[in-house]
Amino acid sequence: MDNHLIPTYKPLPVSFKRGDGIYVWDNDDKKYLDALCGISVTSLGHNHPDVTRAINEQAGRLLHTSNLYHIDNQSKLADILCELSTMDQAFFGNSGAEANEAAIKIARLYGHQNNIDKPEIVVMQGSFHGRTMATLSATGNRKVQAGFEPLVSGFARAPYNDIDALKAIAKNNKNVVAILVEPVQGEGGIKIPDTGYLSAIRKICDENNWLMMLDEIQTGMARSGKMFAFQYEPIKPDVLTLAKALGNGIPIGACLVSGKAKNVFQPGNHGSTFGGNPFASHVAFTVCNIMKNEHLADNAQARGQQLTTLLKQKLEGNKEVVEIRNLGLLIGITLQHNCHELVTIALHNGLLINVTADNVIRLLPPLIINEQQTIEIADRLVKSINQFIQK
Ligand SMILES: Cc1ncc(COP(=O)(O)O)c(C=O)c1O
Repeated sequence: MDNHLIPTYKPLPVSFKRGDGIYVWDNDDKKYLDALCGISVTSLGHNHPDVTRAINEQAGRLLHTSNLYHIDNQSKLADILCELSTMDQAFFGNSGAEANEAAIKIARLYGHQNNIDKPEIVVMQGSFHGRTMATLSATGNRKVQAGFEPLVSGFARAPYNDIDALKAIAKNNKNVVAILVEPVQGEGGIKIPDTGYLSAIRKICDENNWLMMLDEIQTGMARSGKMFAFQYEPIKPDVLTLAKALGNGIPIGACLVSGKAKNVFQPGNHGSTFGGNPFASHVAFTVCNIMKNEHLADNAQARGQQLTTLLKQKLEGNKEVVEIRNLGLLIGITLQHNCHELVTIALHNGLLINVTADNVIRLLPPLIINEQQTIEIADRLVKSINQFIQK
């Protein structure tokens, strides 16, 4: 079937032909509830009328000009992102990996500007930052790196959610210029750190003149129950990377800076042909406005709470279930055993989910879900888990 595709993926044997709201339909017209959003991308659901209108409007007006010229739509997008995040400036690329590449380059440049010849960035075990050479080198997962050695150097590694380890690095390694960390490890298995973790990182960064760089590619854009997960604490980072839900399916990534990271990049230091073009910028600007005006962060918080409470009730006493946890609509359910098979069982039951870190069910439902649809997700998932256990 896929004779001419490089087999980088192992797709499930289903293909979707259309979507509407929280549902998608396959080629045989079977309907599925999409509780994964293309891995945290279509947070406004499928075929959102305002997004579709923005796409059509801008497609009929102007797609691309290049960054050789001023792009009004890009400036408007930077304005709203800085308003929502209280960051100062934005650079746009086309994916999460590119957003993190920009962050890594900023950290290195910042190091050199501060007379550190071999700058290092602290990254966390269990992290995921992308598949380009620099971002896979930053990633804390050997599976992602194996076979691609030599890795890009300049990364120091620490256990996640371990402030003492960061303090020890600060004491012993004078080449460090930045910390790059996810507020919740998504690919790593929806790992939620202790309250105060980000504030403690902020403090260490301030004490050592390091940049605090947050990868909110998965947690950002209202998914965590705040527009950005760092807003649960009274801090802000120096660098903030975004992608995924920013374009609701139109590829776009962003690297926002503030404080010490402001104006580190100067003309000629970085660039992207497509980055922030009139089309992607207009769509992302529309997405930001919808998320803000419809208070979707609040809905993510309420529905996340409802869904985890329901799952805890329905799965209480179930010996296969180790833990159910969430931050907004980032939901992880750890089972005793490897549960990749559950993806196929849920598919059969008309529910799209994902399994990460071998035994963690990951739910990333659209931020527009209502109470009734939340119950529907819980019912279908519990049915699927019970069928998995009986097998
Ligand atoms: C936290 C995080 N960072 C970076 C990436 C890479 O993003 P992309 O696949 O758009 O390059 C991902 C993708 O899953 C992610 O979850």
